[in-house]
Amino acid sequence: LGSNSTKLMIPGPIDLEPDVLAALGQQVIAHYGPEWVKIYTEARDGIRRYAETDGDVFLLSASGSAGLDAAVGSLFAPGERVLVVVNGYFSNRLLLIARGNGLDAEPLEMNPGNVATAEGVRSCLKTGSYDGLLICHSETATGALNPVDEICAVANEFGVTILMDSVSSFAACETRMDEWNVSICCTASQKALGGPPGVAPVIVSPIAWERINRVGDVGRGWYTDLRTWKSFVEEMPDYHPQPATMSVNIIRALATSVSRQQKEDLAVRYARMAASAAELRSRVRSLGFTTVAPESHASPTVTAFFPPTGRESEAPAIIQYLQDEVGLVVAKGMGELDSRVVRTGHMSDAAYGPYADLLVETLESYLQSH
Ligand SMILES: Cc1ncc(COP(=O)(O)O)c(C=O)c1O
Repeated sequence: LGSNSTKLMIPGPIDLEPDVLAALGQQVIAHYGPEWVKIYTEARDGIRRYAETDGDVFLLSASGSAGLDAAVGSLFAPGERVLVVVNGYFSNRLLLIARGNGLDAEPLEMNPGNVATAEGVRSCLKTGSYDGLLICHSETATGALNPVDEICAVANEFGVTILMDSVSSFAACETRMDEWNVSICCTASQKALGGPPGVAPVIVSPIAWERINRVGDVGRGWYTDLRTWKSFVEEMPDYHPQPATMSVNIIRALATSVSRQQKEDLAVRYARMAASAAELRSRVRSLGFTTVAPESHASPTVTAFFPPTGRESEAPAIIQYLQDEVGLVVAKGMGELDSRVVRTGHMSDAAYGPYADLLVETLESYLQSH
């Protein structure tokens, strides 16, 4: 699959399957009219199924961060108070996005690798001073998976509005938006959805609109105001269901991927991914590496691991070796884990299968030859 001599095993983007790549390479079409609406609808329907909601799906032509910006700015008014679970680089970005949108954002901080607990969130929320909770499901910097079902239950006890960064968990983990009462989920095309980078799906549950319509008009921009997206889908559903020119090829490729993924039952898919990820972690550990996240809260899509004892400084050399020897591209750590860990993404069938085998074999050969 890998382009030329490289194979992407970073935590997104992923190497594209041949059908997705072919869809990307087709001639450009107009971003309106029946042919376009069919593609757009196919992509949105596939994404809605993963979110387990009857809500709206908007596909912003941008990376995942822009979707988060639009979601935070649309759901909360400047000055509102939100609790942000921060357990790594990307959840810290959620804090920056909240503050960038003028919110009074308070972090609930944990060491990288750790996850939030329902009790920890409860003790913050019981002060009664929060309007919202922002949480990242799978922290891509560490591979830790927050127990979002339990945490959402606590947020619901306090009537707090929930926004979830599902960028690296979506389509790989249960995401029961309606059951958990999550107002907005944001993800990105280049992860487990199997598409190229460049689209930020924003999924808005029916319960979110009362708040979105209430928080006012100031400081929300236009493209990033989700009411703009809603009005176009309502006014021109069969012709121009979005406010602006779309990245038509990327969305066609994304639609191809999610349509193929639809053939598999959700529970079967999630169980398959979780089992493959657990097997990969166990193989890596058997070589002497230590995963950053505890096994009980490990993400099915990302694994970050420390080198074996005595080789603590060798993560950069290992990453280079994987690339030079077999063309396997993995990522370094982020923030305080920068040169201390090797980070792998497994969000595609290739990454769970042949790339995982190649990773383990090449890690073994590194340890034997160094
Ligand atoms: C959990 C999480 N949130 C946000 C982002 C930002 O997404 P993007 O780089 O598409 O803007 C990422 C990217 O990897 C991520 O993993």
